Amino acid sequence: MSTSVLRQEPLARPPGPRGRFLLGSLPEFAGDILGFLTGCVRDYGDFVRFRIPGYQVFLLQNPRDIETLLLTNRGNFVKHSFFWRHVTAIFGNGLLTSEGDFWLRQRRLAAPAFHPDRLAAYAGVMASYAERLASGWRDGETREVHTDMMRLTMEIVSKTLFDADVGEDVDEIGRSFDRIIEEIARRFRRPVRIPDGVPTPGNIRYRKGVALLDRIVARVLAERRARPGDRGDLLSMLLEARDDDGRPMSDTQLRDELITLFLAGHETTAIALSWTLFLLSRNPAAEKQLLGEIASVVGDRLPGFGDLPRLSYTDAVVREALRLYPPAYVIGREALADCVIGNYAVPARATLYFSPWVLHRDPRWFDDPETFRPDRWLDGSTSRVPRYAYIPFGGGPRVCIGERFAMMEGVLVLATLLRRFRFHMAGPDPTPFPSITLRPEGGPLMRLEKRRPEA
Ligand code: HEM
Repeated sequence: MSTSVLRQEPLARPPGPRGRFLLGSLPEFAGDILGFLTGCVRDYGDFVRFRIPGYQVFLLQNPRDIETLLLTNRGNFVKHSFFWRHVTAIFGNGLLTSEGDFWLRQRRLAAPAFHPDRLAAYAGVMASYAERLASGWRDGETREVHTDMMRLTMEIVSKTLFDADVGEDVDEIGRSFDRIIEEIARRFRRPVRIPDGVPTPGNIRYRKGVALLDRIVARVLAERRARPGDRGDLLSMLLEARDDDGRPMSDTQLRDELITLFLAGHETTAIALSWTLFLLSRNPAAEKQLLGEIASVVGDRLPGFGDLPRLSYTDAVVREALRLYPPAYVIGREALADCVIGNYAVPARATLYFSPWVLHRDPRWFDDPETFRPDRWLDGSTSRVPRYAYIPFGGGPRVCIGERFAMMEGVLVLATLLRRFRFHMAGPDPTPFPSITLRPEGGPLMRLEKRRPEA
């Protein structure tokens, strides 16, 4: 079978680094993923080929080619890439990783939980939980804000989607999750894949971490089954779903969907908030404008769903932070059959990557791309950015199901916290740590300054 989206005669082979005899480009890829991908595009252009052991990889930087991958010719690509193979034990066959008709059915099942009517109901939880967090902070104290953001977004996603309270488990989940993330980062950098069952120290920590998540999900399910009934949340929808033969979802499938939504639904948003607070502390003019908007739109009360249309600068701040520090910094697919993308032939089983980190810093689309400038989203300068040149949430039918949830959460949490505190860097600037997502390593450690009411 062969599919094609042809613009010109296909060329034989895209340019790219030759790499080493056996390891290909793995040492460079593993040593500094972001630097390597950026260098590939700088040195070889919009379509780059490189090797890592066992994989032929193509890196796409042209928005038209990314559109081909995610939308126009999507039927020829699956997610079983180099990346996802490493995390099967965590996500199983949940919404992020499943394929085909099964994925479509599960996506349709989950979609009502992200409908605007439901989102409006979540707004209150988002703002009140952020307020509860801020009310425990003291003027002048120094905090690792990423830990706080993880706790907050974990509690929000658990309450809104599963009507569950994970307050007591948050620290333990956080610690296990850190270990999982470290092990996954190591796996990306290793030339050979060590199966999960081999008892290396990393695998043992990883399996313990996954087992803890399993226990918490089993508890949430057991609690719900002990007090059944439709609460209108996502968990109710999943529990009530029946297949064509009238059978409910299996416990394994429920576990996979719950863990997927729990993890995908909090870590990314926490990262986005942490980078946003860091960027604001380094950009006082943007911070001032943001505080002005929050004061005039929200004043003394908590922000709500109805305020969102008027919090346009706050929205632009989150959007701009997602441009510079996209939590999903690289996205991959695998080709099912030989095909043509743009001017190049791509063989079956090839891995295709594109990197929001590299794309979002492309000077063809963004003036002064390294600069944090939220105004660019309001002054018309991004109006000609192609659809697939700014993709923090991916694109096509597999676009993030939580995109609006996340943007709303980012805006409401930011508006709530900044009503009460200003955040100043109290340690070194965090560095991006690429694992499943792009975490801020080393903090940010921030000093909190309580805001006085305006005179
Ligand atoms: C700033 C926050 C977020 C970012 C940057 C983000 C990013 C992404 C990206 C890039 C994808 C597509 C991956 C691919 O094509 O391979 C994705 C998919 C997904 N995201 Fe998000 N996400 C965020 C928040 C959320 C939230 C809040 C939820 C749920 C509450 C969520 C749930 C999911 C799920 C279930 C998928 C898989 C969708 C599917 O394949 O049908 N995400 N996300």
